[in-house]
Amino acid sequence: MKRLIASSLLAADFSNLQHDIEADWFHLDIMDGVFVPNISFGIPVVNAIRKIATKPLDVHLMIVDPDRYIVPFRDAGADILTVHVETCRHLHRTIEEIKNAGMKAAVTINPHTPVDSLKDIISDVFMVLIMSVNPGFGGQQFIENSYKKIENLRLMIAAAGSDALIEVDGGVDLRNAGRLFRSGAEVLVAGTTVFGSDDPAGTIRKLKYSE
Ligand code: DX5
Ligand code: ZN
Repeated sequence: MKRLIASSLLAADFSNLQHDIEADWFHLDIMDGVFVPNISFGIPVVNAIRKIATKPLDVHLMIVDPDRYIVPFRDAGADILTVHVETCRHLHRTIEEIKNAGMKAAVTINPHTPVDSLKDIISDVFMVLIMSVNPGFGGQQFIENSYKKIENLRLMIAAAGSDALIEVDGGVDLRNAGRLFRSGAEVLVAGTTVFGSDDPAGTIRKLKYSE
């Protein structure tokens, strides 16, 4: 199984992104102040990061009515577009529109949303993101119930014969990374752990090879 690290730029120093750090992907958190109680940044910033980043842009939309912004985010340079199940009335249609726009489509569920809600979409997505904190802020504490959700999702993916990746976002650190990979995660998002350290590149390597 893969082991990838997506560095969350929410915790990064935006004035100093010229160098591509060791991360496999760049995770960009888009918050609208409505679906989540915080506002981050929008399309022009994604566009600016695209110009300097050589890694895939993994764009996590925490916004109401994401269908309205699929094409603008594609034009800004998103490679992977993740939408919340909780924001999509017609999730299957949204997933198809993301794929038709030329991006990889991913879905995410909040800590309270059951893995079972993904059963009829699992074969259609590139990736499922398990939120291991309530979305809205970096630097929050990891929710322990997430391990169980990852294990259940791994079983669901195998039963469906799907090749969807499992990504985990929120409170990932050097203590839980190993167990997350062993539980079935393949992509870990890390913000505070990476950018709060003196050696972001070294921390990414440590996360990746955690036991
Ligand atoms: C939370 C965001 C996360 C966040 C992770 O709403 O989706 O991507 O930036 O930050 P850390 O790693 O600090 O929990
Ligand atoms: Zn995120």
